[in-house]
Amino acid sequence: MPPVGAKRLWVYVVALAMKLLALQYEHFRNLAQVTLEPSAHATIAVGENGQGKTNLLEGLYFLATLKPLRAGKLAELVAFGAPGARVTGRFLLQGAEREIAVDILPTGRTAFVDGKRAPSLDAYFGGVSVVAFTPDDLAVVRGGPDGRRAFLDRSVFNRFPAFLDESREYARALKSRNRLLKDHAPVSHLQAWDATLARVGARLWVRRRALMDELSTRAATAFQRIGRTVAPAVFDYQPSHLKDVVFATATEAELQQALLGRLDERLPRDLERGFTSVGPHADDLDISLGEHGARQYASQGQSRALVLAWKVAEIENLQASNGFLPLLLLDDVSSELDPERNAFLMGYLADSGAQTFLTTTDRAFVERASGADSRWLKVRAGEVTAL
Ligand SMILES: Nc1ncnc2c1ncn2[C@@H]1O[C@H](COP(=O)(O)OP(=O)(O)OP(=O)(O)O)[C@@H](O)[C@H]1O
Ligand SMILES: [Mg+2]
Repeated sequence: MPPVGAKRLWVYVVALAMKLLALQYEHFRNLAQVTLEPSAHATIAVGENGQGKTNLLEGLYFLATLKPLRAGKLAELVAFGAPGARVTGRFLLQGAEREIAVDILPTGRTAFVDGKRAPSLDAYFGGVSVVAFTPDDLAVVRGGPDGRRAFLDRSVFNRFPAFLDESREYARALKSRNRLLKDHAPVSHLQAWDATLARVGARLWVRRRALMDELSTRAATAFQRIGRTVAPAVFDYQPSHLKDVVFATATEAELQQALLGRLDERLPRDLERGFTSVGPHADDLDISLGEHGARQYASQGQSRALVLAWKVAEIENLQASNGFLPLLLLDDVSSELDPERNAFLMGYLADSGAQTFLTTTDRAFVERASGADSRWLKVRAGEVTAL
């Protein structure tokens, strides 16, 4: 009975899909009033430097994750002279339409679902997921550990949205403890924060470990596909001052005890230096090509291929866990990749069928990712028109 089977399959696909149907920006950076209806596949924003292409992606990324793509402060996202900004998106999720919106004030942000304040982050995200790929990502392999941690944490957050609140709680506790260390506060005051840091820190470790377990093999396989390098890619989490084997096998409660012990052991040194030297904030994502650390030995092209492999792995992993592809945002990546790796990426995007947003200064770079139903946009001084 092929027709019935086909219909069932169709219903199944629709039920599991996520599509962005419409987007609106109000006073978001230089986008005073922009409304757009993206393609179900590739939407491509073309424009000269400084016109607002990245702002388009940044607004969408903020809407979908409530995390900034590049800004340090929320105030940067609000158009010069405006009191606040708003980004609104209408999604088709699990077969139903819903609208999410975020108001941004310099002092904070408020999330809405279907016009009402979101009761929880879970209700707000509701399965929306997005993977962004920016030129900054391409620098993580050879950059410092903070860049790699932020890079890793974006993936952890995409996979486990509760990580957003957990990592904020950790950051708050860390800041308080560091302040007390600097002020040489009595040890009894520090101990209250040690307990919180150990509890939440163990949770962050468990989240990162789960993500690494899912992603590292996929990323190594993707790296082989992107190719041209004989040595295999190895992605490995490096906990600071904690044995790898303990990290790999301990339960969350054991990790909590281990972190509490390390905080205690390192207290004299931390007091001397005025900061906390152990915990998830001090760890690193170790990336190697075969035996050799990529940070020291990988070429620029190899480094970028490693990042590309990670992103491909993340997309596939989210598809496996959510049942549908995330939205993909690619900011001017093509100009940074060599022609062969760019061709791989563009071919991958076209074949994946994902809903994708690309920006570029030169449409020739991204032609291969486009198809008959692509939407081409021209961005000029914060105005968006059909190209
Ligand atoms: N808060 C803000 N209010 C108004 N304009 C802003 C704000 N923040 C940034 N801009 C403006 O946005 C423009 C930069 O936008 P964007 O980074 O999106 O450019 P782009 O098109 O991606 O350029 P490139 O090709 O160089 O990456 C600049 O002109 C900048 O002055
Ligand atoms: Mg840009």
